[in-house]
Amino acid sequence: KLPSHIRNEPIKNFGVTDVKDWDLLRASLMKFNNSALQIPLVINGERIYSDSKLLAQTNPADHQKVLANVSQASESDVERAIKATQDSKRKWFELPLHERASVFLKAADLITTKYRYDMLASCMLGQGKSVYQAEIDCVAELADFFRYNAVYAQQLYAQQPTESIPGVWNRAEYRPLEGFVYAVSPFNFTAIAANLVGAPALMGNTVLWKPSHYAALSNYLLYTVLEEAGLPHGVVNFVPGDPVMVTKKALNNRNFAALHYTGSTAVFKQLYGTIQNNLAQGVYRDYPRVVGETGGKNFHLVHPSADMPNAVFNTIRGAFEYQGQKCSATSRLYLPESKATEFLTDMCGILAAKDSKCTPTNTAASALSGGDLHGFVGPVIHETSFNKLKNAIEEAKKDPELQIVYGGAYDSSKGWFVEPTVVKCSNPHHKFMKQEFFGPLLAVCEYPDAKFPEICDIIDTTTEYGLTGSVFARDREAVRLASEKLRFAAGNFYINDKCTGAVVAQQWFGGARMSGTNDKAGSGNVLSRFVSVRNIKENF
Ligand code: ALA
Repeated sequence: KLPSHIRNEPIKNFGVTDVKDWDLLRASLMKFNNSALQIPLVINGERIYSDSKLLAQTNPADHQKVLANVSQASESDVERAIKATQDSKRKWFELPLHERASVFLKAADLITTKYRYDMLASCMLGQGKSVYQAEIDCVAELADFFRYNAVYAQQLYAQQPTESIPGVWNRAEYRPLEGFVYAVSPFNFTAIAANLVGAPALMGNTVLWKPSHYAALSNYLLYTVLEEAGLPHGVVNFVPGDPVMVTKKALNNRNFAALHYTGSTAVFKQLYGTIQNNLAQGVYRDYPRVVGETGGKNFHLVHPSADMPNAVFNTIRGAFEYQGQKCSATSRLYLPESKATEFLTDMCGILAAKDSKCTPTNTAASALSGGDLHGFVGPVIHETSFNKLKNAIEEAKKDPELQIVYGGAYDSSKGWFVEPTVVKCSNPHHKFMKQEFFGPLLAVCEYPDAKFPEICDIIDTTTEYGLTGSVFARDREAVRLASEKLRFAAGNFYINDKCTGAVVAQQWFGGARMSGTNDKAGSGNVLSRFVSVRNIKENF
């Protein structure tokens, strides 16, 4: 029986009067800002520092600032890590569930207490998060994943064959997969990394973990917390390195049993294809499980009956929090013609008042210098992302079908800063209404009020994605219509709320179509992908 106090971790406010919280956070920020930590690989519990192959992780708000030097795996390191997964497997999965769960429950408690400020600082400096965005990710959501997965695992294990006749006992044994799980985690959520690794490990699997280079600091800290919580050596092997090489070694191995992935759609498609190809060539012992969550072109659809201030407020949050770098971020907005001018004027006014102009500060930098602690806009993650957004903005300036109604500035002199940018499109089929930019760029299209059903059809068919979306309406008939017509357009569908910010155990997260396999992070579904049931019949 699990502890009864499991509930969603409360979010700390970090208000101006929370002096103690800020002092503790500042101390952690200073520590990481000045340490240029050496990050090793960890294989079977052994730290490996590859002095000759190091890659610097820099602060995206200050790209000359090296936060960490990250060891890069060689081919033989990856081979050894895979061997470690196989050597440590039996001892780990033969532990009863409560023993394995206790590691993750303890890790959750360590994260929310002893390491809270270190986790926040590592995400703020390394991944360019505001304190609020760090708090909801690497503390609250991360702890929630570990705690609720334990609840869901217990529920799953309790499911048994319903019929046993006299003299016969039928039972289900929840085995892990026989091979190893390859977890590939993204830069944007440390909580997602925790779940990609933690969910399969909880179910008795062993894991080869390739973290994102751009989240190496927070991800290594997470690994050390798991270790302190009692995770045995070899169960999770932390292997930063060249993504192409590490992935090739992992997917070409006979013991590869599952991919647990969050990242871009393009890469996921490639990996899916490689796995199918390898399977056809007889590389694997098992049919690999493939669990992925990828991109989106997530919509906000506003009906004329909507509560407009609520729709404006939530659109700003959905599109621009964490610089729009959430797979769930709002990136296309559909406004009824009768309300569009008022909506956009209000939205641009609020954005301007939020001081969202390009400034080479984020809350980490501000906290260190004693300045504004609640800056709204931070940097995008790296130069590639900055250039992609810059090019899109320049394109928008020239294209007659596009008009920038807010923002459009960028500045890379110190960090990768792109101003929140709102682009009006006269054509609902324009590529700006289809393409994911993964940054603070919102494409907007107006529709005639009477064509609400038609705009639902356009939303449904213009992109390849199906991740998140929202309808804003007071009219129940409009809500019903949108909900029916957009049934497959979003795996997470919101009514009168932003399409970001799913809370573990409240909103199960994931989408179908080209957004992923929709196995729902934060639910029991995803855990079931990492077990391979043996049915046992015993005659007495
Ligand atoms: N689960 C995250 C959200 O819903 C990505 O915003």
